[in-house]
Amino acid sequence: MTPEIQKELISLAIESRQIAYAPYSNFLVGAALLTVDGSIYTGCNVENTSYGLCICAERTAICKAVSEGHQEFQAIAVAANPFATPCGACRQFIVEFGKQIEVIAVDANNPEHVKNWVIEELIPENFKF
Ligand code: THU
Repeated sequence: MTPEIQKELISLAIESRQIAYAPYSNFLVGAALLTVDGSIYTGCNVENTSYGLCICAERTAICKAVSEGHQEFQAIAVAANPFATPCGACRQFIVEFGKQIEVIAVDANNPEHVKNWVIEELIPENFKF
């Protein structure tokens, strides 16, 4: 992934965060997912009054992409403030599609604060059926 594409993913994740539906936690999260063919799917968290039904931004983006015919991914950016890394459920959801997918976490209010991993580093010894 080029630095330009990383920048684009970061800015799309920050933008998507603005439309998150998070009236219960007030914790807005945005994500931008890069497919191997270069298309990008965004996502935000969507909460529910039945708290257990809340969906994270990363999983929203992955479900959007898969439901549009994509199953191979290069990278996913996630933006929050304060800075946050993907939750365990999202890590499992990402690694389903490849151990080498790059994960970029960014502080939405300070885009200079960025960390990069490959998903395998965030969920070692991951479950595989
Ligand atoms: N959240 C995400 O969107 N992604 C994560 O990786 C962690 C948590 C959301 C879920 C919930 O709407 C809010 O952040 C607070 O947990």
